[in-house]
Formats: sequence, structure tokens, C-alpha cells
Amino acid sequence: MEIFNEIKPLRAYLNTLRRQQLTIGLVPTMGALHHGHLELIRASRKENDVTVCSIYVNPTQFNNKNDLEKYPRTLDADIAQLSTVGCDAIFAPTNLEMYKKASELRFDFGSLDKILEGEFRPGHFSGVALVVSKLFNIVQPNRAYFGQKDFQQYKVIAKLADELLFDIELSSVPIVREPTGLAMSSRNQRLSEPDKLKALVFYHSLLMAKELLLKGESTAAVKVKVKEKCEALPNVKLEYIELADTENLIPSQNVSSKTILLIAGYVGEVRLIDNLLME
Ligand code: PAF
Repeated sequence: MEIFNEIKPLRAYLNTLRRQQLTIGLVPTMGALHHGHLELIRASRKENDVTVCSIYVNPTQFNNKNDLEKYPRTLDADIAQLSTVGCDAIFAPTNLEMYKKASELRFDFGSLDKILEGEFRPGHFSGVALVVSKLFNIVQPNRAYFGQKDFQQYKVIAKLADELLFDIELSSVPIVREPTGLAMSSRNQRLSEPDKLKALVFYHSLLMAKELLLKGESTAAVKVKVKEKCEALPNVKLEYIELADTENLIPSQNVSSKTILLIAGYVGEVRLIDNLLME
């Protein structure tokens, strides 16, 4: 497995592969890898000759300084995990390599980046779009893989790729859950074992909400019940639960196979998200 910290040698390596007509899959990550990430690598390996995993905690997508500082960084363990699943190359750049100077570029995705995560994390998707554009430009992959847990992020990246004419096939890979049902997330590393049990309330709330909506309860009534359920637990705070259209994420009052439930909240100071398709 090749490891690159700089853009220039990575580009030279990838150009050699492209000259041999080999296809390239990119798995962008912020490290602290878990089984969900390894599924992305496996998906890429099935469809491409070469898989590149980027590991970079992108400062411009954090609207909370404390969250950025506390984001888990486990590069050695990440490298060890990636070598077990046949990843071909890692790109782990420094901040200076990715941002020679503070960027003044800002992205605006219309309503898509103002709702849900966008409402609670202003500027977050602009930072994601900036770094993903850079990664797409550096790696120029044939395909790129993202986790479905970040459902809204995937929609933003799809819009970015579509409007900027990136010739890259995007894939959204289903959420991988712990045996308990907890959605795998790098942020889970910051949870104590008792807090991991508490964090399950978000997945359980999604299941409860789905059942109630299918029985005909209104979205308003379901939201109240979910809030009560989450906040009955000490140190748990619900930020939102929303039923939304899977295409544009506009909130929906009516259940259909084209809607998704999305939830976000805190256990202590750790912010978690999850979602469940209504299909
Ligand atoms: O989903 C993530 O881990 C990040 O948002 C991404 C796509 C790697 C951009 O920093």
C-alpha cells in the first residue's frame, strides 16, 4: 500500500495508472476508520482496478472549534485497517498541502444546504464541497464512494459533481450498524460504553417514528413523541427529526417510499446523526 502526504507524487502515481488504462476509485474519509469505511473500500475494489482512500480532517467543514479539536485522529490504526482490505493507496495530506492559504471560496446549494444539517451547522456543506472538489481534482477518480449515514452530504456532493461537470460516478453505500443497531460513526469513539447505549435512542426513535407514521400518526405528533423519548435520557438532546423527500430533502407531511427519516442530536457533547428510508 502506497502512502502519500503530498499532492505532486500522488498525481504522478495516479497518472502512471491512468496511462495503463486502470480505473480509480476514491473513498474520501476523515479517518478514525470503522467497518462502515471498510465497506466503502470493498465497494470501490469491486468496481475499480485501484482504490485510493483519503484521510483528512477538513477544518473548513467544522463550524465548532471544539468539535474539530476533539475529532478522533487515529492514523496508524487507520493504515493498519486499510491494509487488511486491500486498499492500494492512502492520501493523508497536511492542512498546508490542502489549503495553501485560507480559502475565500464559498458554495451555496440553494435550499439543500440551509435545512437539516445545514440549519444547525452553518457553512458545513460549503466546507465539505470545497474539500471534496479539491480531492476530486487531485485524484480525478472514475468513481467515488460515500456513506449513506451522511445522506444530505451525499445529495450536496451529487449536486456539486453535476453542476461542476465532474466526470465521476458517485455511489452511496448503505449504513453499517453495530449489532445493537447503533450506526457506525467515527464520533462513536468519543462515547463511553454507557453513552453508546444512550446513543441507541436515535436509531430506536427512527424505528418508532417509522412505525407510528405507517400507522397514520401525523409528523407533528411523531416529532413530539421522539423528543420526549430522547430527552427522557440524561445528557441526551434531540436537535431534529424530520421526514423528508429523498430527492431534495424538503420536509414532507406524507409518508411514501420516496421519503426518509433523518435524526440528529447530542449525547453529552458528541453530535450524532442517523437516518432510515421509509421504503
Ligand atoms: O464524510 C466525511 O467523512 C467528510 O465529510 C468528507 C466527505 C471526507 C469530506 O471531508
